[in-house]
Amino acid sequence: MRKLYISATAVFWAMVFVFWAGSVWSPRAEQPTVGSADRAISAAELARHALPETCWMAIRGGVYDLGAYLPDHPSRPQVIEPWCGKDATEAYNTKTKGRAHSKSADEMLINYRIGTFVPDGH
Ligand code: HEM
Repeated sequence: MRKLYISATAVFWAMVFVFWAGSVWSPRAEQPTVGSADRAISAAELARHALPETCWMAIRGGVYDLGAYLPDHPSRPQVIEPWCGKDATEAYNTKTKGRAHSKSADEMLINYRIGTFVPDGH
């Protein structure tokens, strides 16, 4: 009986070790592509995406591809479209009337990030 107890305990801890080792040494999961791409984007490259359909904006040091989002934005298109291809940090921070966007707008924005804004980069 005692032997059975010892071997059952040994098997139990062996299994615990195997599961632990499996989680520690397994390869890391792929990074999600959304939000993680972080290449440098210059002002010149940003400016090539000034049309509403291919609209990129620099906001707070990041560059965002907002072409797919623009039709869903709650303001009139004329309010947001002129900022395509430009640094829109000030416009985003104030909604052009002195009020900041909500926290949920900030969280939404993260999903569209494609890189870091390096104004005079190559
Ligand atoms: C950069 C230029 C932008 C301007 C000038 C601008 C301006 C505005 C205006 C005038 C409104 C409606 C009025 C109001 O809620 O006070 C609004 C609402 C909103 N905008 Fe923008 N917006 C810009 C960019 C963005 C971007 C890039 C996103 C998200 C990806 C966004 C998300 C929202 C959301 C979620 C609302 C609803 C109210 C809130 O959550 O704050 N906007 N914006």
